[in-house]
Order: sequence, then C-alpha cells, then structure tokens
Amino acid sequence: MNTLKLKNVNKHYGKKKHALCDFTFEFTNGIYGLLGPNGAGKSTLMNIITDNLLPDKDGGKIYWNGEETRILKDKFRSCSGFMPQQQNLYESMTAHTFLNYIAALKCLDKKRAEKEISAIIERVELTDSIDKKMGGFSGGMKQRVLIAAAMLGDPDLLILDEPTAGLDPKQRVIIRNMVSDLGQEKIIIISTHIVSDIETIAKEILFIKEGHLIDSGTIPELVEKVESGEKSLENLYMQYYGELQK
Ligand SMILES: Nc1ncnc2c1ncn2[C@@H]1O[C@H](COP(=O)(O)OP(=O)(O)OP(=O)(O)O)[C@@H](O)[C@H]1O
Ligand SMILES: [Mg+2]
Repeated sequence: MNTLKLKNVNKHYGKKKHALCDFTFEFTNGIYGLLGPNGAGKSTLMNIITDNLLPDKDGGKIYWNGEETRILKDKFRSCSGFMPQQQNLYESMTAHTFLNYIAALKCLDKKRAEKEISAIIERVELTDSIDKKMGGFSGGMKQRVLIAAAMLGDPDLLILDEPTAGLDPKQRVIIRNMVSDLGQEKIIIISTHIVSDIETIAKEILFIKEGHLIDSGTIPELVEKVESGEKSLENLYMQYYGELQK
C-alpha cells in the first residue's frame, strides 16, 4: 500500500493570490477525483505534488510512503506519472519518438519501453498514428498521447490533470476504463469538470474551493450531504459552487 501525505501545503502567486491554503490530505491506493471550478487550485496542487511548482517557503510538506518527496527527488519522480493540463508537445516528433523519449527519461530499458508503448498506444487507439508527427494530431489525439506518456513505466502514483478535456464520449469511456483497471494497486488523482468521468470509479472525491479543501469522502458519504433534490454528486457540486456561477 502506498501513501501520499500532504501536510499544510500553501502556495501564493505573488503577494495577494493565495492559490492553495493549508492543504492537508492523505491518499492511499485507489482513485481520487478532484473537483472544483476554474481557478480553484487543482492544477496548482497537482503541479506541486509532482515537483513542477514549488510551494511557498515553509509552505508545508509532502510525504511519499513516509519520506519527504523533496528529499526523495528522482526516486519519487521515477515512481510517478503526470499528465499536465497544458498541452506541450513536440509537434515535429512522431508519437513513437515522443513516447520513447519519455520512456528514456523514466529510465525504462528499450525492450520494456517498446512493449509498453505498443500496449498503451493500442489501448488509447493511436496505433495507426504512432509514426505520424504530432503537429498534425487533433486535440483529443494529443491528449491521448499525453495520457499514454503518463502511464509509461507503470507508476505507483498517477496524476492526471483534466485528462478527458476535449475528448469525445467514446474516448472518455476508454480512458475511464483504463484508469479504473489501474486504480486498485496505485494512487491515481484525477481532476475533471465532468462528474460522470469519476463518479463510478473514484474511491473518494475531494472538493476544492478557492484553494481550500472544503470536503472529501466516498461518494455515498458525500451525497448524503445534498440538501435538496436528488442525492447526486452533481447536486452536491452545485450546492458547493452554484453561487459562483451566477
Ligand atoms: N502562474 C500564475 N501566476 C499567478 N496566478 C496564477 C498562476 N497560476 C495560477 N494562478 C491563479 O491561481 C488560482 C488557481 O489556479 P489553478 O490553475 O490551480 O486552478 P484550477 O483549479 O486548475 O483551474 P482550471 O479548472 O481552470 O484548470 C487561480 O486564481 C489562478 O488565476
Ligand atoms: Mg487546472
């Protein structure tokens, strides 16, 4: 069993913007859905966990299986996979070259890399495009290459920042099933705006609002808190964030 523990993590952008406020949570193996409106702090949190962004000075601590990630550094990186929200792809590379490059960064040997790449690429239905330059890919195809890249090396911690944004319904289901299959033996954290992407697969849901973790729990626990209407996650979302959308 893996554990990822966040203790009082804080992040300011400049002096005024407090994007993450005393974020404390412990993740264990399973799938976690991160919900919150635009600007809530989801990407900030994910970028900090994956060491792509520094928290504030003295802005809390993150532990992977009991050891500080800041000290583990490469050891932690090698067991985590991250799909960032921003699509930064090398447009002139083929998907195959790109995935080989990511596999090399993750120190996978060539044989294992080839085996994993062809299996993953088949699951995300990109086999026919693997030798094409990514510059010519649709948004959804690029998205799927990035998901495949995050999954390479079978990481114990998988962090996916809006993996299904821009995907058509069929591809959303494929990704959901892939994540669901993987979820038992690793920690997977997924941010999304599409509640149906996670409501059947998530062990727990975290609600973030203006940098604060405002609630978390299993779906049955959470939906009990719906005050009016059907006891659904979507209605709880509206209860927590509805007023922001006026
Ligand atoms: N580089 C930055 N400089 C200044 N402010 C930033 C920066 N990045 C994010 N912010 C601010 O921090 C807050 C949290 O942003 P973040 O991107 O983490 O939100 P999010 O929950 O991922 O939103 P979205 O659903 O739109 O992806 C927002 O108010 C945002 O404007
Ligand atoms: Mg974001």
